[in-house]
Amino acid sequence: MSQIVYLNGKFLPIEEAHVPVLDRGFIFGDGIYELIPVYSRFPFRLREHLKRMGNSLAAIRIENPYTDDEWENLLRELIEKHPAEDQSLYIHITRGVAPRDHAFPKGVKPTVFMMSNALLTPPALQVKQGVMAISANDIRWDSCDIKAISLLPNILLRQMALDEDAIETVLFRDGILTEGAASNIFAVEDGVILAPPKDHHMLPGITYDIVLELAEANHMPIEIGKFAESRIRAADELWITSSTKEVLAITTFDGKSVGDGKPGPIFEEMYQLYQDYKDLVMRHRTD
Ligand code: PDD
Repeated sequence: MSQIVYLNGKFLPIEEAHVPVLDRGFIFGDGIYELIPVYSRFPFRLREHLKRMGNSLAAIRIENPYTDDEWENLLRELIEKHPAEDQSLYIHITRGVAPRDHAFPKGVKPTVFMMSNALLTPPALQVKQGVMAISANDIRWDSCDIKAISLLPNILLRQMALDEDAIETVLFRDGILTEGAASNIFAVEDGVILAPPKDHHMLPGITYDIVLELAEANHMPIEIGKFAESRIRAADELWITSSTKEVLAITTFDGKSVGDGKPGPIFEEMYQLYQDYKDLVMRHRTD
């Protein structure tokens, strides 16, 4: 059976979903996106994802085409049309279709596309053993807090990791940790969780927020700040967080072991807290 997607007001088979070549998403990468994990057909942290999407739209001056309630109804309909219980829901909004001109077109409706795929979380072995990551200079622009669809730098940076059989590239801007090519990065130093601040040099991750909330609720010490590359390289633990990777330990960084080369004790605690939190939310469905 063909996958059902949403395009501009219609649910239709993916093969029948077409966008004109003059769509500004295709021509300029002029749009934003959002990715929401769905567990047991329940969109996780929906309000926060919709808020971040609203912020991205406002930042690039596209009017939000739907209210939160309208989004929720559309998302729930799309989720029901997919056979998987756990899904990753992708929303993509562009400035619409218009003759090619950098200027914003007038009176043009945004293009809204949504699809949902089976959610692929990290295999148990990666959680148990940790993963490899490399580092690179953060070559992106200065507005990384916008979840823009123009992801060319992120793609090139992530591919650098994949070419080395690593799974993520950790980025430093002027020698300061920012985030991963498609994730946020935490470190642990002497039992303290180190996190970069939510400024315009990183995407404000929804998973990042959950990790900090869980750390605070469980009296785990946190330091939010700008961390020099030398401190990150000497850290006892490094973690990747994202909606699809959840919380994952980096155990090899630029070919060297992080700590003793195994996922560390603070990671183990946070991983369990994250899984318990997911279970709790799924049971009560109040998130
Ligand atoms: N990426 N930073 C960047 C650059 C990201 O692309 C992502 C997520 C994150 C983590 O955000 P969150 O915890 O809300 O998933 C941080 C998604 C998964 C993607 O592009 O596919």
